[in-house]
Amino acid sequence: MQHILEKFSLEGKKAIVVGGAGDLGKAMVEAVAQAGAQTVVIDLDNRIFQICEEFNNNGLNVSPIKTDVSKLSEIKDSYNTALEILGGTVDILINSAGIQRRYPSEDFPEEEWNKVISINLDATFYYCKYAGNTMIENGGGKIINIASLMSFLGGITIPAYAASKGGVGQLTKALSNDWAAKGICVNAIAPGYMDTQLNTALINDKKRTEEVFNRVPMKRWGTGEDLKGLTVFLSSSASDYVTGTVIPVDGGYLGR
Ligand SMILES: NC(=O)c1ccc[n+]([C@@H]2O[C@H](COP(=O)([O-])OP(=O)(O)OC[C@H]3O[C@@H](n4cnc5c(N)ncnc54)[C@H](O)[C@@H]3O)[C@@H](O)[C@H]2O)c1
Repeated sequence: MQHILEKFSLEGKKAIVVGGAGDLGKAMVEAVAQAGAQTVVIDLDNRIFQICEEFNNNGLNVSPIKTDVSKLSEIKDSYNTALEILGGTVDILINSAGIQRRYPSEDFPEEEWNKVISINLDATFYYCKYAGNTMIENGGGKIINIASLMSFLGGITIPAYAASKGGVGQLTKALSNDWAAKGICVNAIAPGYMDTQLNTALINDKKRTEEVFNRVPMKRWGTGEDLKGLTVFLSSSASDYVTGTVIPVDGGYLGR
């Protein structure tokens, strides 16, 4: 029987991380690459080039593809390019690209609504669809979508974000139902309140920070480092009977 730690290894695996230049995405790239996966990083931000160079200098195998995932044609092109780089196969897909927009619901601008839904939800579906086809052909794979506490809660002044992340949670379950018997595990990670650029407005607001800390039993913001263990677990054969779940990494927030 295989040693338990060998089950967590991603040696020889091929991964795509969408949104991998972000604060949380970068940590997840590092986690799967350190565990052994050859990894393609897709993001709109030029930081991907520097991030990949830094990781490659540290002995990892990481390639950047600059892409605007709000455009369907770019999603398709980037997926095909990623597959070429990875030698025609993908074992792990992580969808972490996301944006936040805050307005009172009654004033929420249409173009901002569309942008949030297209990046957070539509792009997640299309990368799942493309990778799902490859994984079905190859006998299986692991998909991790990045949900949010706002997959469970409504938040304040973030109707588009909450709707998109609620959608990511439901999409994860729907795809799991369709693909579990085809060897694909589809799960989501729901980060809690994390110390990242996405939350700069919240972190700078002392009153909201105090409200958040009053609800977080661990009394601290989470970080990308906090996502690494679950990311490797859900990417590896250690989680082969886990699918259709949305797992919070939230310092205990949802349990309150
Ligand atoms: N930070 C948090 O507290 C928190 C909490 C729960 C969920 N999340 C989710 O985690 C994921 C990662 O968040 P993060 O904190 O790392 O945020 P981040 O802003 O640091 O990273 C998001 C990444 O998505 C990329 N991106 C945005 N629009 C894009 C586009 N059109 N095309 C390609 N890439 C695009 C950005 O360039 C960025 O690198 C997001 O889906 C976010 O909603 C974050």
